[in-house]
Amino acid sequence: MRKPFVAGNWKMNTDSHTSVNLAEKIASVSSETADQSVSVAVFPPFVYLQMVFKALSVSNVAVGAQDFYFEQNGAFTGEISALMLKDIGCTYVLCGHSERRHVIGETDELINKKVTAAISGGLLPILCVGELLEERKADKTNEVITRQTKKGLAGLNAEKVSAVTMAYEPVWAIGTGLTATPQQAQEAHDFIRKLLAEMYDAQLAEEIRILYGGSVKPDNAAELMCQQDVDGVLVGGASLKADDFSVIIRAAV
Ligand code: PGA
Repeated sequence: MRKPFVAGNWKMNTDSHTSVNLAEKIASVSSETADQSVSVAVFPPFVYLQMVFKALSVSNVAVGAQDFYFEQNGAFTGEISALMLKDIGCTYVLCGHSERRHVIGETDELINKKVTAAISGGLLPILCVGELLEERKADKTNEVITRQTKKGLAGLNAEKVSAVTMAYEPVWAIGTGLTATPQQAQEAHDFIRKLLAEMYDAQLAEEIRILYGGSVKPDNAAELMCQQDVDGVLVGGASLKADDFSVIIRAAV
């Protein structure tokens, strides 16, 4: 049985006051789901990670980072390593988010180095994959997902891949207000699960969680998460509003 997972990616938003405030509100909602029937994690900007930890300390909410660099330490000005994130208590890290692929220019090869380094550094990576609108229109969704998944996980054996959470995030649905229909999400998730079964084995594919992301809101979260292969959601905009995020957490229970 895959435990539902609700993750909030705050992106480059909040400040020292609003990040703590948001974390405190999320902590109080998650204490209501004290049966631990849902995993909840937030991904604040680096500079607020420790404040958010403090605000969440009495809750079950995990904290992750939005990015990191694959080297452990050294002369990499401006970068932060998996070891540093682990050191301050991070559990998860996002890898291959569409904004890093398409705005910052990260390649599949770089993303693979990050997924590999995250696992060796004791973090749980969330590998995001998803097609652009023109790729969907050209019927290339499965091709893109296959490339990003195979390259993102290259060189990792089944044991290592069991640390990974997948996230299907169609780029055309991120921050646009357009959401994949529950059927489109289910189709892509089913495709990813079968691909993982082919690459590794059926048991691993059955156990791995696959989140959906792209304009998840309180009014569409439940219908997305009731799809058989949608094991949770990666939420951007709506994770910045404590009330909206709370509704989404409750929809996962
Ligand atoms: P959105 O972002 O919910 O604002 O579309 C999702 C994401 O980028 O993970």
